Amino acid sequence: MNIAIAIDGPAGAGKSTIAKMAAKELSFIYVDTGALYRAIGLCAKQSDIGSKDVDKILEMLKTIKVELAFNDNKEQIVLLNGEDVSSLIRTPEISMYASDVSAIPEVRAFLLDLQRNMAKTNNIIMDGRDIGTVVLPDAKVKIFLTASPEVRAKRRYDELIEKGMDVNYEDVLSDVITRDYNDSHRETAPLKPAEDSVIVDTSGLDLQQSVEKLISIMKERM
Ligand code: DC
Repeated sequence: MNIAIAIDGPAGAGKSTIAKMAAKELSFIYVDTGALYRAIGLCAKQSDIGSKDVDKILEMLKTIKVELAFNDNKEQIVLLNGEDVSSLIRTPEISMYASDVSAIPEVRAFLLDLQRNMAKTNNIIMDGRDIGTVVLPDAKVKIFLTASPEVRAKRRYDELIEKGMDVNYEDVLSDVITRDYNDSHRETAPLKPAEDSVIVDTSGLDLQQSVEKLISIMKERM
């Protein structure tokens, strides 16, 4: 029986960085489910479809293929119609697209089996918004990772600047607050801690401390 660990939480809580390091330590596969919603957002953008144009997005869903693969370093790659879009999806514009399309129930249903199938065949750490509540309700360990909006915005800002993007902190903070609101107020699978999750606030922790804390929770509960 494979072991599943669910890590949910708002944008910029450090889920992907921390989960990736924990997965390496435990020799688990790491799956970032946000990349799937981002790929659908990117596809809408590339097709000149507005992020809230539900009818057109539903039409688009009938014609697209989204897949996850892993490179030689065991890092996740997301494929949109066979093309590796892993870098193209990492822009603030696509973050907002992803947040909007993720509110559409049919988009969530479209991605559900893909996510569940990953957990059937691997020991997995999966991060997202609804992993512990909807995708893998039987996950062995569920962690809800959070931090204050200001701390999360600063981390996201630093990441984008490091990638050479031209952004300012106030815009990033405003995006974080908007996405928090969207993600936690949508009707289908809103962002919220599963009842049996451990809530970890990383506001006062550095990366190493956060990773250590998560690994100790995981080992204790596995
Ligand atoms: O984790 P991320 O920032 O890459 O996610 C992008 C968007 O996708 C996020 O704003 C909400 C959505 N998402 C979701 O609804 N459910 C998930 N399991 C993962 C992401």
